[in-house]
Amino acid sequence: MNILVCNGPNLNLLGTREPNVYGSQTLREIEEELLLKFPEASLTFFQSNHEGAIIDALQSTIGKHFDGVVINPGAFTHYSYAIRDCIAAISIPVIEIHLSNIHLREKFRRTSVLAPVCMAQISGFGAASYAVAVEMLLYHLSKQKI
Ligand code: DQA
Repeated sequence: MNILVCNGPNLNLLGTREPNVYGSQTLREIEEELLLKFPEASLTFFQSNHEGAIIDALQSTIGKHFDGVVINPGAFTHYSYAIRDCIAAISIPVIEIHLSNIHLREKFRRTSVLAPVCMAQISGFGAASYAVAVEMLLYHLSKQKI
């Protein structure tokens, strides 16, 4: 199974960015953990602080051998109709994830404009949100293949 793990703005700063909210693991450490935990999956990692680059990465799954996407869109979650349209345009399942529980935070974070076009939203498990999403996606995909 080929899965794109995509991260949006400021997630390159994990480890030092508000560790009380986002934990102390770096993005690289989280990615390395995923590689160790899911040796059966082929994981491709991408991070950008730019909306267009994230859209390009999502579009790059079209017609390629990608089975699904796990995306932490960062603050784009709350207002990017362009990323929403892109997710709606690709046919493979996309899971939206957040380290923090966005529903327990500021009012502006409680809305995701992306959730209605994603297969699921996982929010609040800290760095483990990534592993939960990959695990659920692999489970879902394995059921599809039966
Ligand atoms: C986040 C939550 C967003 O509201 C915030 O803008 C982020 C990180 C999370 O993982 O908890 O950058 O997506």
